[in-house]
Amino acid sequence: MSVTVRVPAKVNVQLAVGSARPDGFHDLANVFLAVSLYDEVTVSPASSLTITCSGPDAGQVPLDRTNLAARAAELLAARHGLSPDVHIHIAKDIPVAGGMAGGSADGAAALLACDTLWGLGSTRAELLSICAELGSDVPFSLVGGAALGTGRGERLTELEVGGEFHWVFAVADGGLSTPAVYGEFDRLTEGLAVPAPAASPALLDALRTGDAPSLAGALANDLQPAALSLRPSLADTLQTGTSAGALAALVSGSGPTTAFLTKDEESAGSVAAALLASGTCREARVASSPTVGARVVGA
Ligand code: C5P
Repeated sequence: MSVTVRVPAKVNVQLAVGSARPDGFHDLANVFLAVSLYDEVTVSPASSLTITCSGPDAGQVPLDRTNLAARAAELLAARHGLSPDVHIHIAKDIPVAGGMAGGSADGAAALLACDTLWGLGSTRAELLSICAELGSDVPFSLVGGAALGTGRGERLTELEVGGEFHWVFAVADGGLSTPAVYGEFDRLTEGLAVPAPAASPALLDALRTGDAPSLAGALANDLQPAALSLRPSLADTLQTGTSAGALAALVSGSGPTTAFLTKDEESAGSVAAALLASGTCREARVASSPTVGARVVGA
């Protein structure tokens, strides 16, 4: 008996960042959109908690208890007085470089898979509270679609999306540490009045109407200057994609993955080819949004 859950990657179409809070986190207005790149997480009974991973980036995935999938199994088991004796296999297709919430996705997927395997029938609210404990982006991986995250990004309000958006994601060599990017944001904004983060009405409207050019005009990531400061070469990647016809380009989350919104699927294909040919990225992936959150696909 095993349970498999499919879970999407995300892009942040708006990431408005406030100043650092006493707990070290930053208040956010974080508009998430789920995109059609997926990991599949399979859990099956075992004598102890073990993890394996397959896929081209598998070598970069930690297979110890720091993996959010392992932590999800442990947290859920602890809440129910169980022992987390499962084997977790992650079939990884979400780029590992960072900025697409691949680790968070695996946490949400493992949580739903274990809940199903152990027949716990947790409510959505119970699962979301464990997701929030695992990390700021994990609740969105469970919910999918489109949502505004407030607080440290974990308090979600689902959003309406009126059409399909097409994207290219350029995967950089190596990662960027999320705490380091937030630290650089603090350094760059030191002494400045950082406004309270708020969702942009123009952006929410563009999502609602499904209008790609309007969304392109409203894309915003307050972490982008920090990511570019730590990794200046990302500016060339962004420029290459816009020169190749993308409607807009931005760093995805804390990077170093960069995201390019295109007018249609065909344009996404040509932007991806130009990015790859330029040598400014390791890989270029085409995807569309929105798509559903973590779902059981096999049991
Ligand atoms: O919540 P998560 O574990 O994904 O956060 C990773 C790190 O990113 C935090 O330790 C913190 O440094 C930074 N972060 C932040 N404000 C947020 C979310 C994350 O400063 N809202």
